[in-house]
Amino acid sequence: MLVDTHAHLQWTSFDKDRDRVIRRARSTGVSYIVNIGFNVESSKRAVQLAKENSGLFATIGVHPHNADGFNEVQLKRLKELLKDEKVVAVGETGLDYYRNLSSRIAQKRVFIAQLQLAEQFNLPAVIHNRDAHQDVYQILREFQGKLRFIMHCYSGSLEMTKRFNALGCYFSFAGPVTFPNSRRLQQTVKTIDLHRVLVETDCPWLAPQSVRGKRNEPANLPYVVKKIAELRDLSVDKFSKATTENAREIYKLTTL
Ligand code: NI
Repeated sequence: MLVDTHAHLQWTSFDKDRDRVIRRARSTGVSYIVNIGFNVESSKRAVQLAKENSGLFATIGVHPHNADGFNEVQLKRLKELLKDEKVVAVGETGLDYYRNLSSRIAQKRVFIAQLQLAEQFNLPAVIHNRDAHQDVYQILREFQGKLRFIMHCYSGSLEMTKRFNALGCYFSFAGPVTFPNSRRLQQTVKTIDLHRVLVETDCPWLAPQSVRGKRNEPANLPYVVKKIAELRDLSVDKFSKATTENAREIYKLTTL
């Protein structure tokens, strides 16, 4: 049994065959899927999907790309969504200095507001970090001990990993770990405490090497699992059990 800790099945590219995608996931052992919100509307859709399907859960959040224009009305809507029992985290939230689709000032403001929300609701935070390691680290450090962090689609250096590890972060790995040119990332994944490793697809994006270029989906998660098990010299079975246990613990997944 596996947990896809970061998916976006609410995305329009699944509109035509979402039910089949969910069934395919189950048939490959991916019994739990956490759908991640990236703005208010997609958060609401994630909650709806979770309510309609057992084994599906939701997070609510505003991606750094959508930070410009974030306001009190949106914050209030997020708080309302947070009351649902199938909401297991806040996010994805963080900083993206690669694409800079929102101003850095707005990104930081919205990031901090969501970390406060996570603290208030006693939920973990799903962190998006692209080319912003230093600023993400400094902001998370302010919340150290007050909430738990999941570094989504992790790709930091060994040095940054040590610092995030000291904050108690969980590290989630996606398709890129299977790419032949991901040497540095493959080194990083080996150094992380087994109790802190999570796996995800980030579908519909980041399809693993064997299906690269195609629309990604939770049924492809075993490719990521197999690769990490290989890198860590563990059996697929042992690594699957460990990472599933980690996911169930951090998100407090029950069988709803
Ligand atoms: Ni994502």
